Amino acid sequence: MEKIQEVQQDGLKAIEECSNLEQLNQVRIDYLGKKGHVQSLMALMKDLSKEEKPVFGQKVNVCKQTLTAALEQKQEVLKVEALKNQLVKEKIDITLPGYKPVVGTVHPLMMIQQELEDLFVGMGYSVAEGPEIELDLYNFERANLPKDHPARDMQDTFYITPQTLLRTHTTAIQMRVLEASKGQLPIKLICPGKVYRRDDDDATHSHQFMQMEGLVVGENITLADLKGTLKFFAQKMFGEDREIRFRPSYFPFTEPSVEVDVTCHMCGGKGCPVCKHTGWIEILGAGMVHPNVLEMSGFDSKKCSGFAFGIGLERVAMLKYGIDDIRNFYTNDVRFLKNFNRFD
Ligand code: DAH
Repeated sequence: MEKIQEVQQDGLKAIEECSNLEQLNQVRIDYLGKKGHVQSLMALMKDLSKEEKPVFGQKVNVCKQTLTAALEQKQEVLKVEALKNQLVKEKIDITLPGYKPVVGTVHPLMMIQQELEDLFVGMGYSVAEGPEIELDLYNFERANLPKDHPARDMQDTFYITPQTLLRTHTTAIQMRVLEASKGQLPIKLICPGKVYRRDDDDATHSHQFMQMEGLVVGENITLADLKGTLKFFAQKMFGEDREIRFRPSYFPFTEPSVEVDVTCHMCGGKGCPVCKHTGWIEILGAGMVHPNVLEMSGFDSKKCSGFAFGIGLERVAMLKYGIDDIRNFYTNDVRFLKNFNRFD
């Protein structure tokens, strides 16, 4: 009987001292398990007399029930405590300032490209693309620049093989489009893309830059159509009161060829450092598609005519946003790019 009393008291004490559910489980095994203390009390029965056995058995049962009840009660208490601890551990301090997600921005050149695409698509143009690794055929030959033509020197070229190169201008796409059209009219396209030249990089030169070619071919297309189109472009990009002027120039793929100036958006044409005190800023090259170009691509130059132009996107972006170094577009310093965040 004393032994039973001892097991019960020790058990209750052990339960009381448990501070977590793992310990409590161990106590359960120690006392109520198959090899536990209560079970070893039962083993003592075999030495008792017939009369003593039921009394002893009953006492052991009471001890077992007492310990079971105490274990359950303690388990409830510890469970609540464990939950409390977990809640404390997982507490979030909602007063701490959060991390602002860093959102990328649209690159200024992309902004210009998208703006130009919107503008020309609005006038009924489609957008075409072509490969940056190009055949000499489309970059030069079809553009009326046969091998050994001196004007090839105007565009110092990265050759890959004697027949393949990194395109030096988006005019190469123009030649592909003309060929693919198989003489079908009208054609009204813009072709944006990267181009490459063997230039040393400085504030106004980059070995890789972007252009957007424009091409319109149809019946009775004239220089006046070109002028109207480019005036519209200049006014939308640089301000409604801009004027443009054509200066005679030379490109092998156009005849006549012109260089196009726009009145300075800084001084309005009065003269300032941006326009080198001339009041005018050169923005692009253009002209009427050379009959040779049309004929080489399968068009009858007596029945149709066209105009073309090539816009330098960096130049437009630099003028529009007042950027003084073309390398800014390619070094991708976030302090520069952040200035063009539409969402800030
Ligand atoms: N391809 C010329 C260049 O890169 C730009 C150009 C001039 C394109 C006149 C044209 C054009 O389509 O008609 O310098």
